[in-house]
Amino acid sequence: MTEFLLVGSADELKPGDEPIVVEINRRWVAIYNIDGQFYAIEDRCTHDDGPLAEGTLKGCIVECPRHGARFDVRTGKVLSGPAGTVDVPTYQVKIENDQLWIGVKRA
Ligand code: FES
Repeated sequence: MTEFLLVGSADELKPGDEPIVVEINRRWVAIYNIDGQFYAIEDRCTHDDGPLAEGTLKGCIVECPRHGARFDVRTGKVLSGPAGTVDVPTYQVKIENDQLWIGVKRA
């Protein structure tokens, strides 16, 4: 089951803005608006905990600022670098009445 938690107004994150980082259930989550589509990934590189929101974004690919691992923000998939084959967790995002919600899986 997925529970959605309110982050705030979707208007506050425009296409091309720096990602916003929120704490959800003791994890930092980076939320991106890429060409009007919202994506959320854990803000923690699977190599050595680098802050992905501080990395360089090219298209939908973020490069970790610490050692350069690259991840697809849409899927969390690791593409290259020292993170090996460990993908970064993603979160569902939904917009309702201009409010941005993040989905958290519950057991
Ligand atoms: S912490 Fe991200 S590549 Fe090392």
